[in-house]
Amino acid sequence: MAEVRIEALAAHEGQEVTLRGWVYNYRSSGKIQFVILRDGTGLCQVVLVKGQVPDGVFESARRLTQESAVEVTGTVRADARAPGGFELAARDLTVIHLAEQDYPITLKEHGVEFLLDHRHLWLRTPRQVAILRIRHEITRAIREFLDGRGFVCTESPILMGTAAEGTTTLFQTQYVSGEPAFLSQSGQLYVEATAAALGKVYTFGPTFRAEKSKTRRHLIEFWMVEPEMAFCTHEENMKLQEELVTHVVESVLRNRQRELETIGRDLEPLKRVQPPFYRLTYEEALEVLREEHARTPDAEWEPVPWGEDFGAPHEATLSRRFDRPVFIERYPAKVKAFYMQPDPDRPELVLNDDLLAPEGYGEIIGGSQRIHDLEVLKQRIREHNLPEDAYQWYIDLRRFGSVPHSGFGLGIERLVAWICGLEHVRETIPFPRLLNRLYP
Ligand code: 4AD
Ligand code: MG
Repeated sequence: MAEVRIEALAAHEGQEVTLRGWVYNYRSSGKIQFVILRDGTGLCQVVLVKGQVPDGVFESARRLTQESAVEVTGTVRADARAPGGFELAARDLTVIHLAEQDYPITLKEHGVEFLLDHRHLWLRTPRQVAILRIRHEITRAIREFLDGRGFVCTESPILMGTAAEGTTTLFQTQYVSGEPAFLSQSGQLYVEATAAALGKVYTFGPTFRAEKSKTRRHLIEFWMVEPEMAFCTHEENMKLQEELVTHVVESVLRNRQRELETIGRDLEPLKRVQPPFYRLTYEEALEVLREEHARTPDAEWEPVPWGEDFGAPHEATLSRRFDRPVFIERYPAKVKAFYMQPDPDRPELVLNDDLLAPEGYGEIIGGSQRIHDLEVLKQRIREHNLPEDAYQWYIDLRRFGSVPHSGFGLGIERLVAWICGLEHVRETIPFPRLLNRLYP
């Protein structure tokens, strides 16, 4: 008999199928037993009626514990009251593994530290399964979009000899040769090289930042997709970001409706995600923050003076003010990375953008046009006290066929948190690496 998974039951109404999965819940009323089965694609109620299954099977089912693994054969019946809309009238059931009695994640409420300690099991609950399925749809849609636009996926190294995003959050280790090596904070510098080879590229991999801050949006290890385009300006870069984010949100709305419902996501804010996104310059954003602060004088934050970067409360305030994603562009050069192209009209600013997700989520993308002039780049490397030797290969890119080029980094976990409407990024990745957590 062909393998059938719960999500596909509708196509088998009236037919006999075999499901394999785990017991999520169980109840019995003497002559009839109800087993809620989960198989990673959904939940299905299995009904065992005494006399309709062999007596031995009926008796062995009585011993089923939460998370026991079973194989059930039966007929698919529509039932509006059943989770998923279908149930299975069992003819036979085989216990593959009888789980121990003391499964820690019961159907009661648990504290978050307890859940994180048991993340390897917590992952099995319907809400976590739904989030991971949405995460997969998000990464699938990102690849679909970029591949469809002629981008080539190229890998960046994880072990690097240089810093890409400042030195304060670097993870240092020792290379085989004995010299210091760093875990990648961003694959950007390397996609700038592959973009000059292939034109339009992206890298998609894990990145590492020894962030000392304990917030709802910082992970120590997170995944980033980083497109990079030769012959591309700041304007064109932002347009691509807008189209990519719109495509991803549309894909999730279209293909993961059931999962969004499982986690109780309000769909209205997602349906509004359509171009054009709002756009503010850094200076306009400062002005908006001053106004907002004046309106809510008891705010627990202060507006920043010109020349300082925004913190989490500023981004949250800005992103609550708009009902669609908002770009903040042209920041002061001194708060941003060394590689960003100066604004030709105002060289104290750079041609960069942060894309803030609405509903208080804040930054999900950081992007910029990159410096393509050899002398300007060398100057910036000196100003940032970076070792010119280690960046020689990167500087070389400005010596041979250097062109205006741009790219951005989209943080997958922040995108998942926003699209799913989650409180914290810890639920967006199977095994979150948090400030004080390396287990499980
Ligand atoms: O703004 P960031 O630091 O930009 C870069 O790394 C660029 N080199 C990217 C590029 O242009 N290719 O990081 C990009 C994104 C942020 O907008 C955020 O979504 C995510 O990466 N991010 C984090 N996500 C979770 N935890 C952290 N500690 C993160 N730090 C950055
Ligand atoms: Mg950033």
